Amino acid sequence: MMEDIVSLCKRRGFIFPGSEIYGGLANSWDYGPLGAQMKMNIKNDWWKTFVASRADMVGLDSAILMNPKVWEASGHVETFNDPLVEDKVTHKRYRADSLIQDAIGQNVDGKSLEELANLIAQHNIKSPDGNELTPPVQYSGMFKMKLGSGNEEDKIIYLRPETAQAIFVNFKNVTESMRKKLPFGIGQIGKAFRNEITPGNFIFRTLEFEQMEIEYFVEQDQWETHFTHWLEQMEAWANSIGVDANKLHRLEVSKDGLAHYSKRTVDLEFDFPFGTKELWGLAYRTDFDLNNHQEYSKQKMTYTDPDDNARKIIPHVIEPSMGVDRTLLAMLVSAFHQETLDDGDTRIVMKFKPNMAPFHVAILPLMKKSGMPEKAEEILSDLQKSFRCEYDDSGSIGKRYRRHDEIGTPFCITIDFDTVEKGTVTIRDRDTMKQESVDINNLQDYLTQKIT
Ligand code: GAP
Repeated sequence: MMEDIVSLCKRRGFIFPGSEIYGGLANSWDYGPLGAQMKMNIKNDWWKTFVASRADMVGLDSAILMNPKVWEASGHVETFNDPLVEDKVTHKRYRADSLIQDAIGQNVDGKSLEELANLIAQHNIKSPDGNELTPPVQYSGMFKMKLGSGNEEDKIIYLRPETAQAIFVNFKNVTESMRKKLPFGIGQIGKAFRNEITPGNFIFRTLEFEQMEIEYFVEQDQWETHFTHWLEQMEAWANSIGVDANKLHRLEVSKDGLAHYSKRTVDLEFDFPFGTKELWGLAYRTDFDLNNHQEYSKQKMTYTDPDDNARKIIPHVIEPSMGVDRTLLAMLVSAFHQETLDDGDTRIVMKFKPNMAPFHVAILPLMKKSGMPEKAEEILSDLQKSFRCEYDDSGSIGKRYRRHDEIGTPFCITIDFDTVEKGTVTIRDRDTMKQESVDINNLQDYLTQKIT
């Protein structure tokens, strides 16, 4: 199934291999016209749901490059590492913890390098190509860059591995400018970068990706209530954007597997074709980050209780964190259907939620004559004001329907002789393939009702 999805994405303009004309760059992907539109739909819906339509939320759009002290304070410089081993013959690199888990079925999160080396020796674990492995070493997931001209001493800065830190760093600016009372949250969408040892599985794990993150600030004694609330909100949103609920599962992350900042994490896992893996994460980050930034920056990160000015606290944090690219992948997997039709023919159809599809509507003049193109263009310019439309006049109508099935267009509007003579169009429903005749004057209402 994964191969079918990757091939469809390339063929139909969703996702292309990165830098393809130069032989590509491993594990980099470019979003084509339809993929770019779907990413936009995901981000817009996320922002609308979690930021714009909630009184307890505000947004942020921070710089990617930050003072390197941020990453010392956050603990990333010291702890954002994975254990790396190398095949002594092929020099291919692997995560030691994943190889061990695959070989002996034991979760080895939290084990030291020495313990991992012992397990590899004890169980005689080899690389997937059957060769000896080097001893595990810590490998930083942080991308380093040099800042400065040749005349100055070069300074190391990092590409951010998560968008979250900019939210903590701006905590004071936001509370002072927006006068928010606890509980409240700050949401941000942006690129993150990780020097992953084993990127792969299409857009599932890449070096460059986008995150949609919320840091939700709460009173310490209320963290559990908010944790439950956000878990439910994340699941409800998954359902609303067309992530198959039957493929979504909660995973309580074990104490050993928790990130250095987390006291509790629940991953929402998804049944991808290559295995059940993390789609999104929800973490209770306590007051770890604000406390550390207070210590490292020497700036107060306290919040003053509006009902008791003498009470100053460092709020605790619940963090729903979601990757845009993984969300798109889960939507592609959920939407992908291969169907055999009554006449024995088969079709691929992407059953996206209508509002998340690249196009809402395809406008298809049956012929390039007899007044049909003119009528179709009139309808296009009218519908374009409210809907994402594509005008398509090439090839047989059957082929055009098939193409729109594959790109998940929920409604195809055919302009035919009846349109010119009687003012009606034929609307074909993507999922049922049923066709109905609708008066042009009722088109707007018809589509508004159907596209949610
Ligand atoms: N601020 C918390 C944080 O970054 P994470 O679990 O490491 O937590 C959050 O990442 C989400 O970002 C993941 O659940 C996933 O959706 C996405 N993500 C993380 N690493 C990724 C990668 N290498 N490629 C694509 N998406 C990734």
